[in-house]
Amino acid sequence: MKTILVTGGLGYIGSHTVVELINAGYTSVIVDNLSNSSIKVLDRIEQITGIRPIFYQCDIQDKQALTDILYKHQIDGVIHFAALKAVGESVQNPLEYYQNNVSGSIELFRQLKNHNIKTIVFSSSATVYGDPHKVPIKEDFPLKPTNPYGWSKLMIEQVLRDLYTSDNQFKVGILRYFNPIGAHSSGLIGEDPQGIPNNLMPYIAQVAVGRREYLSVFGNDYATHDGTGIRDYIHVVDLALGHVRTLEYLSNASRDNLLTVNLGTGRGYSVLDVVQAFEKASGKKIDYKFMPRRSGDIAACYADTNLAQQLLGWRARFGIEEMCRDTWNWQTKNSNGYTN
Ligand code: NAD
Ligand code: UFG
Repeated sequence: MKTILVTGGLGYIGSHTVVELINAGYTSVIVDNLSNSSIKVLDRIEQITGIRPIFYQCDIQDKQALTDILYKHQIDGVIHFAALKAVGESVQNPLEYYQNNVSGSIELFRQLKNHNIKTIVFSSSATVYGDPHKVPIKEDFPLKPTNPYGWSKLMIEQVLRDLYTSDNQFKVGILRYFNPIGAHSSGLIGEDPQGIPNNLMPYIAQVAVGRREYLSVFGNDYATHDGTGIRDYIHVVDLALGHVRTLEYLSNASRDNLLTVNLGTGRGYSVLDVVQAFEKASGKKIDYKFMPRRSGDIAACYADTNLAQQLLGWRARFGIEEMCRDTWNWQTKNSNGYTN
């Protein structure tokens, strides 16, 4: 049985990945500073899996605490989720984003190197492509982020590529996520944004449950089938399974061990397509109003998923119906997220 250090493991994607790691027979050691997550997630993971993961409330920038953890546990690999992730906030507070995401990652990687831990899976984002010249997006498209959050992801990718070049005993998986939505089918874990949600799906879910009056649809004049923005939404459980597959791939030493892949479904849905699918799944009417475009948004973004299928033998199984169904299940069971 292998032991995986999961940074940011109580967050939205991290918690779903810990569940799938446990299902696959791994032991998880979670490190999270709880800056954007609740300790209750630990109980929920235990309720789902029957196993309580080892947890440390710790910042990845805390050198001493991290060293102690790495001495205490025999870690075979790391999945590194811990990061700040709000695009708008990163424009307002770039230094905080570069400090937490970039400096924090460098500190973590230094500790991993010191402890001879050489398998690293990293949460990157489709945001590194910026505004793509065409869709679907392939991994070799130009990389040109448009905000500090995106730059922080690209910088960490580069640090990992250089680390691999310096010592190809490292095994590195860079996973570029498209738009994760949905929740575990139990409704026990899901996305719990603080304050007003920035992202489409949690906003729609809060309208459906009566916490918000209507959805503002940002732009209806894009060159898309209904004028609203198109994205590649992926079920968070599919995404979590992509991490487990990546660990399996990297553990096979005979292959190329610097992997960069898109994790998406390869299908794009517009804002209005998602509204319609959510209405169908929930039986609720989602009121919306058209608003001007949101600054920095692009018309369409969806993945070419061939590389992930070819290298990892992984593809997303869930469709938009299941994504909406599971979001609704989570939202109705936890109308205020993890807060009572
Ligand atoms: P999240 O905020 O729910 O999870 C991140 C977790 O990391 C939180 O629990 C937070 O408390 C923790 N954390 C942050 N900084 C830390 C630090 N310095 N030390 C220790 N813990 C820290 O976010 P998420 O949606 O689960 O995203 C996980 C990863 O995936 C992030 O790296 C994010 O940038 C990336 N990503 C997310 C999306 C998305 O749309 N959700 C898309 C692409 C990439
Ligand atoms: N949208 C609305 N109203 C809202 C929120 C969003 O109309 O209240 C629209 C957006 O304009 C866009 C689509 O819904 O067309 C999706 O927007 P999200 O904010 O949900 O997602 P983004 O594609 O803008 O960005 C997300 C994450 C980024 C990540 C990116 C790619 O927020 O961190 O996906 O992975 F980089």
